[in-house]
Parts: sequence; structure tokens; C-alpha cells
Amino acid sequence: MKAIRIHEDGGPDVLRYEDAPDPEPGPDEVVVELRAASLNHLDVWIRQGKPSVPKPRILGADGAGFLAGTKERVVINPGLAHDGHVTVLGEHRDGTHAQLVAVPRTAVHPLPDHVSFEDAAAFPLVFETAYRMLVTKARLQGDEWVLVWGIGSGVATAALAIAKALGARVVVTSSSDEKLERARGLGADETLNHERDDVPARVREITAGGADVVVEHVGEATWARSLASAREGGRIVVCGATSGPNPPASLHRVWWRELEIHGSTMGTEADFRGAFELVAAGRALPAVDTVFPLQEARAAHERLERGGQFGKIVFRIE
Ligand SMILES: NC(=O)c1ccc[n+]([C@@H]2O[C@H](COP(=O)([O-])OP(=O)(O)OC[C@H]3O[C@@H](n4cnc5c(N)ncnc54)[C@H](OP(=O)(O)O)[C@@H]3O)[C@@H](O)[C@H]2O)c1
Repeated sequence: MKAIRIHEDGGPDVLRYEDAPDPEPGPDEVVVELRAASLNHLDVWIRQGKPSVPKPRILGADGAGFLAGTKERVVINPGLAHDGHVTVLGEHRDGTHAQLVAVPRTAVHPLPDHVSFEDAAAFPLVFETAYRMLVTKARLQGDEWVLVWGIGSGVATAALAIAKALGARVVVTSSSDEKLERARGLGADETLNHERDDVPARVREITAGGADVVVEHVGEATWARSLASAREGGRIVVCGATSGPNPPASLHRVWWRELEIHGSTMGTEADFRGAFELVAAGRALPAVDTVFPLQEARAAHERLERGGQFGKIVFRIE
């Protein structure tokens, strides 16, 4: 089969479109003939060696296609549960940036005909992550305000879609006015340019006191402003730190405003199903930025790494 593999850590130039052995399914595993896959920031981290994984390695957590040898359309849940711990497709074993992938039978879910392979490949990792952050961890209520940083991000666009589906009001930020315009088209109630605007002051004004829930995935560049944007007793949910993991702690804000801080990683089977139901019902849809043929993985990685995307970059696989 054809696949995108890395043989060393590094920049986009280490990605090779090449022949790789067809995967051998283990006991209780199935093979999926992929028709679409998507890119996550995780793929960039792994390619850069953060963490370094055994080589050669096929990247890719998200994918959708046919159960091999059948006409059954399926989508893959990339969080693979093993006796109480979770591993991730493309990080802990070969992933979806390939024509074929072997996965545990329990990781594949039937895909309704009205959900395209491209949308199906765009939602799993970021939607289950955002669903766990907002629903399971922050217990978001319909009349609450959510602040979502960096709306160009896959996780952020998923958080916007899910928060709107639940009836919440959402303030989003971006470095790009064009992305803010697109976010308004997807239902964002208020938009702020985080390079130009005083985000905490504006959020406190818009929400009359502060956001009930803050979706953090940026880290050092935004953390202090996240703490300052939350209302008293507000919940800050953090799943990542694209700009670095060691921000100033600003502990005074945590105790004085009695903030709740929740860590969150991907999701359980229940989180995946909750997110999938919203997508299948058309209540929350992934924002697909661009669709690249798999051969053009380098251009896709370059686009994501320079933050050019709005939402999800998808691969079409033939
Ligand atoms: N724990 C988990 O389970 C989990 C799951 C998914 C993702 N993550 C992590 O969460 C992060 C986001 O993932 P993703 O795949 O959604 O990433 P992505 O699609 O690559 O999103 C990156 C976006 O983050 C925003 N951003 C980057 N640097 C920023 C800064 N200095 N200030 C403000 N915003 C900034 C930018 O938004 P604008 O372009 O709008 O400015 C950028 O486009 C990554 O670090 C990822 O590893 C963790």
C-alpha cells in the first residue's frame, strides 16, 4: 500500500509518500480501507520528535473508509482503550495517513450515509476532545458564556460547534480577522483579535463579569489571560499548550476568584459517542479547511504548522 511515513524526526521534509507493507490485523482487529484522514497538531508534534516514536511510522489519528472487503462505511475512534489506559492511533501504532490501517474491532463505528468520509475524518479526535472538555469536565449549561482561544485550531472549531449545539454563547479569539469573520458565520456570538484586543477586559464587558468556561489549548501565550477572563468560580479546561507548557501561574487569581481548573485528554468511549451523535444529527459539524491528496502531506503539514488553517486539514485517499 501507499502511506506517508517518517524515518526520522524533523520538519515536513521527513514525510515520505512511499510503499509500505499492508497492515496485518491482530486478534480482534480489522482493516479499514481509508478514503479520508485528517491532520491534527499531534501529527506535527510527533513528526518533530515530541514525543519521538519508533520508526518507520505512519502518522495519523483520524480516518474513515470501508471495512476491508465490504461496502460498510466506518469511522475510527482514535483513542484505543486497553484495560484502563488509552493509546492513540498514529502515536502508539501506525495510523491513518495510508491506504489501509489495522485497528481494534471496537474502534470502528458504522458511518451513516449522509456523513461524508471527509467530514467523518475531520471530527473524531478534536470533537471527542472538545466534548470531554465542555460537557464532561466543565458541565457546560445552555445559558453560559464560553471563551475559545485561537479559533483557527481544530479543537477550537470543534468547541465552538459543540458549545453552540448546547445553546451556549461563545466568544472566540484569533490572530486573523478573516478567521474571526468565518467564526461569526459558524455562530460565534462575539469575536476578539487576541493580538490587538485586551481580551480579559473585553470578555468581562461582553459577559458582564467573565466567561463561565474557558477553552485553553494555547498555554504560555494565553494562560494568564485565561485566568483573568474567567468569572468568579469559572471553569478553565486545558487540553494542550501549543505555545509552551510553562506559563506564569498567577495563583492569586486562582484562589481569589475560586477558579476550577480541569485537565482533559481526548475522551472516553462515551465522549466519542456523545460527539458522534451531534455530528451525525447535523447539530455540530466539523469545519473543513482544505482537502489535500495524501501525496501532498508536506504542503498540508506546512499549512498547519504556520497556522494558516481554519479548522481541519483533510487528506483524500484513493
Ligand atoms: N490533550 C488532548 O487530548 C489533545 C487533543 C487535541 C489537541 N491537543 C493539543 O491542543 C492544541 C491544539 O490542537 P489542534 O490540533 O486544534 O491545533 P491546530 O489546529 O494546529 O491549532 C493551532 C491554532 O492555535 C492558535 N494559536 C497558536 N499559537 C497561539 C498563540 N500564541 N496565541 C493564541 N493562539 C494561538 C492559532 O489560532 P489562530 O490561527 O486562530 O490565531 C492556531 O491556528 C495542540 O497543542 C494539541 O497538541 C490536545
